[in-house]
Amino acid sequence: MKEIESILYTEEVIKEKCYELGKKISEDYSGELLVVGILKGAVPFMAELIKRIDLPIIIDFMDVSSYEGTTTSGEVRILKDLEFRVEGRDVLIVEDIIDTGLTLSYLTEVIKKRGAKSVEICSMLTKPKRRKVYVNAKYVGFEIDDKFVVGYGMDYNEKYRNLPYVGILSESVYK
Ligand code: XMP
Ligand code: MG
Repeated sequence: MKEIESILYTEEVIKEKCYELGKKISEDYSGELLVVGILKGAVPFMAELIKRIDLPIIIDFMDVSSYEGTTTSGEVRILKDLEFRVEGRDVLIVEDIIDTGLTLSYLTEVIKKRGAKSVEICSMLTKPKRRKVYVNAKYVGFEIDDKFVVGYGMDYNEKYRNLPYVGILSESVYK
């Protein structure tokens, strides 16, 4: 696609990573696991990942919006909440990318406060240079530089989520 400057991770590479992460997750838990996808970006990655988790899992989704505003604390609003109760459950949050970390640090706290037995994070990508708050992500696919990426669930103005790869968006698109 001409709007994509370069491809960072192909479908094959992402699928291979899902095998790796799924294997680790399967080894780390022994029973039921509640896998929570963050809409909409996590959907393609989560679809691939859960096929590689060899455990009795339940899936659920949350939708959140974040406003950075003028403070570094940010603000996160829950637009769609979980269907299942997390009390006493092992919860794995699945996300497309960790940027400032505000979304996931907030969600982790919310789920812990609701009485989950454990809360861990599995993110396809992370941009460590952009971090404002610490996020303890146990499972991470790839570390990237501070470049705006799209595809495999990630968007620019809601477009490009369907690309079967993660790529860097050409500057000409947002100039
Ligand atoms: P935090 O709270 O960690 O938010 O800042 C993470 C969310 O920010 C979005 N994000 C991106 N989306 N390309 C995208 O398409 C990017 O390079 C990018 N960086 C951050 C994304 O929605 C993620 O869930
Ligand atoms: Mg997102």
